[in-house]
Amino acid sequence: MNRDIRLLDKTFTPYLSADSILSRVDEIASQLRQDYRNEKVLFVGVLNGAFMFASDLMKSINFDLEISFVKVASYEGTASTGVVKDLIGLNNSLEGKHVVIIEDIVDTGRTADRIFEYLKEKNPMSIEMCTLLYKSDAFEGIEEPKYVGFKIPNKFVVGYGLDYDEAGRNLNEIYQLKE
Ligand code: IMP
Repeated sequence: MNRDIRLLDKTFTPYLSADSILSRVDEIASQLRQDYRNEKVLFVGVLNGAFMFASDLMKSINFDLEISFVKVASYEGTASTGVVKDLIGLNNSLEGKHVVIIEDIVDTGRTADRIFEYLKEKNPMSIEMCTLLYKSDAFEGIEEPKYVGFKIPNKFVVGYGLDYDEAGRNLNEIYQLKE
């Protein structure tokens, strides 16, 4: 059965099912539980893309934690503009805390580097990145993500928070652009 979908002017084909995403999210959650239990940890979700991943991940981690969200934008359409705009929304103190950034996807890594730079200035005990998807072949950044859901090829994807010009964020599975 053809389960392709149409978003705006493009066709996308199913890539990662809802079940496979959720079971990987559970695995990452148990890794984070092991690494951060008994620590003061602040999770920083990057909006808009990471809202669904952050929500499922936080529900799977059953220890005391803080969560906050920041907003940053670097993408228009299906090609990176390479321009990272402002980072807004973080009012929490980071002193004495371990910070884990939650991203939907690391592509070139520019956004991640910018967020690291910004958060380092606030003197946390440590910073790591947790991303659901990692396009490792496209990566040209400095800070590699420590926690990775899926390494994926350098192809455009949507769903589970990720958008194509704001379409597709609400899909509960991930689709790949059909060339
Ligand atoms: P980077 O700065 O190149 O690593 O890009 C990071 C941001 O670009 C992500 O947070 C996404 O918002 C967006 N992005 C990168 N690849 C994709 C994709 O395949 N689909 C949707 N958004 C993407």
